[in-house]
Amino acid sequence: MALLATEDLMHRYGDEIVFEKVSVEVHQGDRIGLVGLNGSGKSTLLRILAGLQEPTSGRVTRTRSARIGYLAQEPHLDSTATLFEEMLTVFEKLREQERELQRLEQELARSTPDESLLRQYDELLENFRRGGGYEYQSRIHQVLVGVGFTPDDEQKLIAHLSGGQRARAALARLLLEEPDVLLLDEPTNHLDIEALEWLEEYLSHWKGAFILVSHDRYFLDKLVHKIWELEFGR
Ligand SMILES: Nc1ncnc2c1ncn2[C@@H]1O[C@H](COP(=O)(O)OP(=O)(O)OP(=O)(O)O)[C@@H](O)[C@H]1O
Ligand SMILES: [Mg+2]
Repeated sequence: MALLATEDLMHRYGDEIVFEKVSVEVHQGDRIGLVGLNGSGKSTLLRILAGLQEPTSGRVTRTRSARIGYLAQEPHLDSTATLFEEMLTVFEKLREQERELQRLEQELARSTPDESLLRQYDELLENFRRGGGYEYQSRIHQVLVGVGFTPDDEQKLIAHLSGGQRARAALARLLLEEPDVLLLDEPTNHLDIEALEWLEEYLSHWKGAFILVSHDRYFLDKLVHKIWELEFGR
């Protein structure tokens, strides 16, 4: 079954039809490049797929359990947090478990060992471990370095980052979220050559599905196995 599908989508701004008769499906593991001339509607289609914009007509269906992650062409990350704190928000569940583990540890240290409390602790610790509890901080460091930040940048406030840096922060957060379907609208725009190579490597190992808008045919050719081309009226 498709994670994401459209049926006869049409979109129009005013009298201007951007595209019509778009019926597509995204399946597990699909690696799709979305191409088309400037203004052919690539960004509009991605926003509709992401559920951020309603099509003029037609339908979008999503598998309920499928998590869709979207990176805008000009992403903005509005946050008063530091760069590192912002990345931590992705792992709120693990951090909650971490706090609970600490609470249980204190309780265990205070009282004489209690069987059921110990069992509860072991279970939680196992969940925490399996959920990536020992790795998430290093994953954050890796991804931030990957998209081009220095270790010093991690403690900077998002509000103090440049537009390009915020766009890279948004990309980093999205990759850390590991959604089932990644919708990336020109993700390479704010990347230097090193970060671009890192992203290429990262996506080449990506297990989920993705749709990638890029004008960089070389980048696309190495990553995708299917091309969707938007032309007028299709
Ligand atoms: N909110 C809007 N209101 C009116 N027209 C719009 C709006 N957004 C986009 N358009 C127009 O719709 C057409 C498709 O725009 P869209 O941004 O989806 O194309 P695109 O393929 O992503 O272009 P690009 O390659 O430049 O990013 C363009 O002609 C654009 O000017
Ligand atoms: Mg666009």
